[in-house]
Amino acid sequence: MTTATLSPSAHAQGPATAADFWNLDPEYRDLLLNLINIHVVSELYGGDCFERSILRAPTPELKMRMAKTVMEEYGHHVRYRKLMDELGLDWEEYARSKGHLSTFDTPMESWADQAVFLALVDRAAAHQFRHFVQSGYEPFRQAAQDTLKEEYGHVGLGMDAVKQLLETPEGRAEVEKATTKWLQVGLQSFGSDNSRKNERYRHFGIKQDTNENMRAAYWQQVRAFITEDWGIALPEDFREIWSPSATDDTERAY
Ligand SMILES: [Fe+2]
Ligand SMILES: [Fe+2]
Repeated sequence: MTTATLSPSAHAQGPATAADFWNLDPEYRDLLLNLINIHVVSELYGGDCFERSILRAPTPELKMRMAKTVMEEYGHHVRYRKLMDELGLDWEEYARSKGHLSTFDTPMESWADQAVFLALVDRAAAHQFRHFVQSGYEPFRQAAQDTLKEEYGHVGLGMDAVKQLLETPEGRAEVEKATTKWLQVGLQSFGSDNSRKNERYRHFGIKQDTNENMRAAYWQQVRAFITEDWGIALPEDFREIWSPSATDDTERAY
């Protein structure tokens, strides 16, 4: 333990700016940089994955909203990149050391995939951002706040697009298939149970809850509207769809 830096609990409470960054606890700095990098890499990758959905959207109105979503995903990449720039860090060098979020390993194959992804997986991301907006590192907090607002818009597009798809039997069948697929991805994105990394995030006030609790809250919310509004049956327990043991505590989950 170095004595030159403030105690970790002080960081968890106290605000810090980019000018303070290099005086923060090295572990806290690493955790922040890990999250910033996750967004630098994954928002760009996500924008690329979403891009084809502009043409797949069934109406000009939905194409417009999808195009705006793609634009905002690239904007998120640029926003987080600036956080590295202002610290004098080379984002490309840093990004090479880490992969994109495993969220994007599952292929996006149809408009129904895109719609359900936005409704369920962007929603899972929003659950993470609701924690980040309480973090003490001001540039990160502000970026999270600006991003969260746009992620809510993406979730809204997903919900509207799903609603339209549910109007036809073919659309309903596609949504049903995509729901299981993306629920697994959404549940997984919270990271592993008993995560050591999550414990450190909480120690520094970057997150306020365990992965298990965040996942449970997410499941409760999505299960309610999927079963009641979408009319798709789901088990009581998410473990029948996805098992926590299937995930690990890698850098590619939150
Ligand atoms: Fe995003
Ligand atoms: Fe998004």
